[in-house]
Amino acid sequence: MGGNDRHGKKKKIAIISVSALILVAMVVAVAVGVTKSHKGGNDEKKPATTSKAIETVCQPTDYKETCQNALSEKAGNVTDPKELVKIGFQIAIEKLQEVINNSDTLKEIAKDNLGNQALQNCRELIEYSIDDLKRSADKIGPFEVTKLKEYVEDLKVWLSASLQYEQTCLDGFDNTPGEAGAKMKNFLKTSQELTKNALAMATEIGNLFRTSSLKSQRRLLADTPMDPKKAPKIIPSWIEGRKLDIATANPISLKPDVIVAKDGSGKYKTVNEALKDIPKDNVLKTFVIYIKEGVYSEQVVLDKHMTNVMFIGDGPTKTKITGNKNYADGVQTFKTATVAVIGDYFIAKDIGFENTAGARGHQAVALRVQSDLSIFYNCQIDGYQDTLYTQTHRQFYRDCIISGTIDFIFGDAAAVFQNCKMIVRKPGPNQSCMVTAQGRLDKREPTGIVLQNCTISGEKGFDAATTMAYLGRPWKMYSRTIVMQSQIDNVINPLGWMEWTGTTNHETSWFGEFSNRGLGAATNQRVKWYKLATPEEAGAFAPGSILLGDKWIMPSGVPYVAGMMRV
Ligand SMILES: *[C@@H]1O[C@H](CO)[C@@H](O)[C@H](O)[C@H]1NC(C)=O
Ligand SMILES: *[C@@H]1O[C@H](CO)[C@@H](O)[C@H](O)[C@H]1NC(C)=O
Ligand SMILES: *[C@@H]1O[C@H](CO)[C@@H](O)[C@H](O)[C@H]1NC(C)=O
Ligand SMILES: *[C@@H]1O[C@H](CO)[C@@H](O)[C@H](O)[C@H]1NC(C)=O
Repeated sequence: MGGNDRHGKKKKIAIISVSALILVAMVVAVAVGVTKSHKGGNDEKKPATTSKAIETVCQPTDYKETCQNALSEKAGNVTDPKELVKIGFQIAIEKLQEVINNSDTLKEIAKDNLGNQALQNCRELIEYSIDDLKRSADKIGPFEVTKLKEYVEDLKVWLSASLQYEQTCLDGFDNTPGEAGAKMKNFLKTSQELTKNALAMATEIGNLFRTSSLKSQRRLLADTPMDPKKAPKIIPSWIEGRKLDIATANPISLKPDVIVAKDGSGKYKTVNEALKDIPKDNVLKTFVIYIKEGVYSEQVVLDKHMTNVMFIGDGPTKTKITGNKNYADGVQTFKTATVAVIGDYFIAKDIGFENTAGARGHQAVALRVQSDLSIFYNCQIDGYQDTLYTQTHRQFYRDCIISGTIDFIFGDAAAVFQNCKMIVRKPGPNQSCMVTAQGRLDKREPTGIVLQNCTISGEKGFDAATTMAYLGRPWKMYSRTIVMQSQIDNVINPLGWMEWTGTTNHETSWFGEFSNRGLGAATNQRVKWYKLATPEEAGAFAPGSILLGDKWIMPSGVPYVAGMMRV
């Protein structure tokens, strides 16, 4: 979102128009080729035309050879760039299915506990990766030109998630003995390249169509009007404008579908029992689960078919789902989450999520979110290391409290925190605290962690004199985080940001601050690689821009400011 644009706008625009020009030249060449072979009826010309078309769609990718080899093998005589892009996505899917098949051979060598879990998690994660590629491939086709921005954004978000899942699979083998990790890396190599290529192609669709002089080229992708019957029905009603009124919603006004109550006054006493009542792939009406006051000690997973679900509690400290799974006890970080939300369009209001493993437990997630277009309002998320795993897709947090120690908000979603409180807790001996650890893998990903009008402070008893806290550190190579219009207390070290030990990630990442206040906000001693953001750069991270929030956050009725705030 302009965030990694360190060389200034002019150069970027120049690059875009140059690459768009190359594309246009190639597209024209393809079109001419097609015409020729039609007129002459000469079949021998088709292969040449196809290879030109393949060159065109592979042109913006980082792994051109992988792209061209894959397409040459599968494209037959297809010349339509849109179809070729789709075939590219489909090849990535096939390669991932191959990886799942091949992973069986690793069972013998991943015998230790963590390695074995890593292998199992990989199967699940690769399934998610395939799902996101599939919905991207399904989306390639006719669309309304006026909705180009949303169209490209969807593709970029899903393909970024696909890429992230592949990496999360590999990360699981960190600190595990033997060859399994290296072998898996090898299996996944082509898939990762193809997924990155897919993201590059999707990005280029946007660039091409954003150049207004190319009206005639629009036909290439938007050639047929959308058939409403064929349009995928995946959008819940509240996004299409029927207000759910999250701000004023309460357990009575919502007429919950199920009530969970510890004291037996509801249909169930545990959240897990209530999950069974959710209709599969629920779309039309939000399925509301009211969880009454109480502490629910259970691990809750809303799987990918549990979509369009809302949890409402009696208050962020009154209704609490709690657990204590943690890495120190031998559970992979990915599986430590007390609550994991995978199904899209999740909403939570007035409820708490917690992991009580403490600093001793190391990685111990309270809440993990993959849910696309999810909203959290007036929630509390408590833990120590890795409290909130904003793993993938688009997420909006408003008026929430998040507490923790190391990397306590981390992941690779496009996640905006508006009017939230980040509370730094006392860490274990010799540990420093990091509020964020963003994990962007490719410079084209539209992801990042955004804190807007938040407050960053220490819990009672946090001693800033002996413990150092930082705004964040770069988990991956293209990490991207901004703290803007926020109150930063003196718990934050004047350096502001911290390197990721043993990497040069900070050199390629983007860490910005804009218009912050408080004793920890002074920037005169900040690390050299941080960026004092311009108003334009900051604006690109506001939820109306990075999340296109007017399309889905606004109609949900949650309090929301689309752009910069008046503070
Ligand atoms: C090439 O295109 C024709 C129609 O234009 C189709 O019938 C044929 O099956 C295609 N061949 C391949 C290999 O895809
Ligand atoms: C994976 O294995 C299944 C079942 O054995 C098989 O049907 C499928 O063709 C395989 N897929 C790939 C891409 O190898
Ligand atoms: C903390 O660091 C000090 C100095 O480096 C060291 O002596 C001490 O053993 C460390 N404590 C723990 C618990 O690691
Ligand atoms: C910004 O946050 C403060 C609390 O820290 C709040 O009083 C104020 O209303 C917020 N501003 C907006 C525009 O929401």
